[in-house]
Amino acid sequence: MNLKGRSFLKLKDFTPEEIMYLIELSADLKAKKKKGVAHDVLKGKNIALIFEKTSTRTRCSFEVAAHDLGMHVTYLDPSGSQIGKKESIADTARVLGRMFDGIEYRGFGQEIVEELAQYAGVPVWNGLTNEYHPTQMIADMLTIQEKFGRLQGIKFVYMGDARYNMGNSLMVACAKLGMDFVACTSRHYFPDQSLVDYCREVAKETGAAITLTEDVQEGTKDADVVYTDVWVSMGEPDEMWASRIEELMPYQVNKKVMENAKDTAIFMHCLPAFHDLETAIGRQIHEKFGLTEMEVTDEVFESSQSVVFDEAENRMHSIKAIMYATL
Ligand code: CP
Ligand code: NVA
Repeated sequence: MNLKGRSFLKLKDFTPEEIMYLIELSADLKAKKKKGVAHDVLKGKNIALIFEKTSTRTRCSFEVAAHDLGMHVTYLDPSGSQIGKKESIADTARVLGRMFDGIEYRGFGQEIVEELAQYAGVPVWNGLTNEYHPTQMIADMLTIQEKFGRLQGIKFVYMGDARYNMGNSLMVACAKLGMDFVACTSRHYFPDQSLVDYCREVAKETGAAITLTEDVQEGTKDADVVYTDVWVSMGEPDEMWASRIEELMPYQVNKKVMENAKDTAIFMHCLPAFHDLETAIGRQIHEKFGLTEMEVTDEVFESSQSVVFDEAENRMHSIKAIMYATL
């Protein structure tokens, strides 16, 4: 398998075999790290990290992974560069491409990261756009593979806002890897029909299934994985909270949902999560709407079924694999 020189912008660009290769490579690099086997095979290379939105996991994963591989990192924060303000994406791409061996980009529209990749001349990795979060997919699938020993046929239920980066990416990942994907949410939050059609075409080849349902009992019945994400994403206006709470509260992941899933079911979340009042936004929402938890209850988040921190750790191993494979 040779992915050298390829950008990693969305899973649609990759075959199931290529995606499986990245998951296996992540597992391999994770094992090396645990055993203390050095893998600084990219010594002398330099990468740039562009973040137009905030991050904890993605930024730290890129930095630690790059250091483990022997690379140097330059971080450009949401305000500290000329990008988009004084300099176009195409010009920025051509400048950074002269200095760096690879570029990570987190920002708004998918078209921005696509344009960056078109002009950079070096691999570009999508660290999250409004539409997709592909590096998260390799970590999530690695986590499921670790817990169940397989991906094929796993019943994967996504609850909440299924028409944004996480819902879109997970539906594509499940379609490519032969999984049983269910978006269980209000119809206003179903993924875009054209993406559903694409995934159903892919599913014909891989044995996957794509279901959209508003029925919580039916949607979550015998699930292997229950997944959710925040109801209002980065870059969306705060005014959205009221309608999101009203429409998505029936799709909160709580004990009743987990009891309807298989006994062996796991709970996943890309994080950050609103499951208690330990965050500034969580407290603001509490004052305004009286809620103490949102997309997932604290009980489920803290339960033994929750694998969210294994999942977060796997971000680092999988981002390392993506850089290793493409550089
Ligand atoms: N899951 C994830 O992308 O987290 P960060 O926003 O902290 O990078
Ligand atoms: N949907 C979330 C994902 C965060 C990792 C957001 O875009 O804010």
